[in-house]
Amino acid sequence: MISWSGDGPSGATIKIYCYDCLAGMRHYLQEHSIDVVVTSPPYNIGVAYASYIDNQPKDKFLSWLAEIALEIKRILTNEGSFFLNVGGKPSDPWVPFDILQKLRKHFVLQNVIHWIKSIALSKDREVFCNVSYGHYKPIGGQRFLNDCHEYIFHFTNSGKVKLDRLAIGVPYQDKSNIGRWKAAVKDKRCRGNTWFIPYETIQSRERDRPHPSSFPVKLPEMCIKLHGVSNTTTVLDPFLGLGSTALACLRLGISFVGFEIDPHYFQLALKRIQEFANSRTLFWREYGSL
Ligand SMILES: C[S@@+](CC[C@H](N)C(=O)[O-])C[C@H]1O[C@@H](n2cnc3c(N)ncnc32)[C@H](O)[C@@H]1O
Repeated sequence: MISWSGDGPSGATIKIYCYDCLAGMRHYLQEHSIDVVVTSPPYNIGVAYASYIDNQPKDKFLSWLAEIALEIKRILTNEGSFFLNVGGKPSDPWVPFDILQKLRKHFVLQNVIHWIKSIALSKDREVFCNVSYGHYKPIGGQRFLNDCHEYIFHFTNSGKVKLDRLAIGVPYQDKSNIGRWKAAVKDKRCRGNTWFIPYETIQSRERDRPHPSSFPVKLPEMCIKLHGVSNTTTVLDPFLGLGSTALACLRLGISFVGFEIDPHYFQLALKRIQEFANSRTLFWREYGSL
């Protein structure tokens, strides 16, 4: 088992383990020691990972995820947030809902967020021309629409966790709304549950995004900000992949723990984390800020 631990620019600790997440959480993580979990597990839709087989019998897959969710419940603080990113595939769109059914006896579903990867807006009074933003995987044939979104399920223990909604808020389009309500004291409103987070445009998959299903760093960053940076000491991603959640934590100065079972992805994540930790300015140029 390889592990790496280092200090980020702000003194936050990053610990990553090339290890099975279930065994890793049981072995390394204390009860109620994690404030926020942001993760994207395999969806069981036949993605070609380097070593994980993403094609298990459905019952076996769902029971495995439920076991992981129970472990997450053990290590999460009472006021913690568990953000679970999942999608399906056109021929099996039930995956996210099957997972929800399996987890509903363990957690309260506090928010359902739609991660919008691509959107097309038609010319209108307020839209100056027809535009299309973001990237998606085109689907051929005549049965299915192109799949341009995934879910982020926000689970908590009580359903009553207070969030920092304005930390990821947006300015009012109609400024006359400022001051209209007691809560509207400044030019920022809750952005709602549709989050447009496009993938960066890349030239080479192999070089620029060498993983079949990573999410943009901005996704975990928004989840953590929504939970509240001042309420968050440590974040966990049990399915590290390329380490996107670790990078979000480095960016926010928050400690992080992650597990990845595949040695190749683990090494790529490690390289990405070290590069970021060593050259913060480069990172800011590359990803911009919210
Ligand atoms: C959907 S990807 C996560 C991608 C990640 N969010 C990112 O942005 O790069 C799921 C990852 O889980 C890993 N994985 C599968 N089974 C695992 C296990 N039992 N423990 C830890 N990691 C596992 C896979 O190798 C894969 O890299």
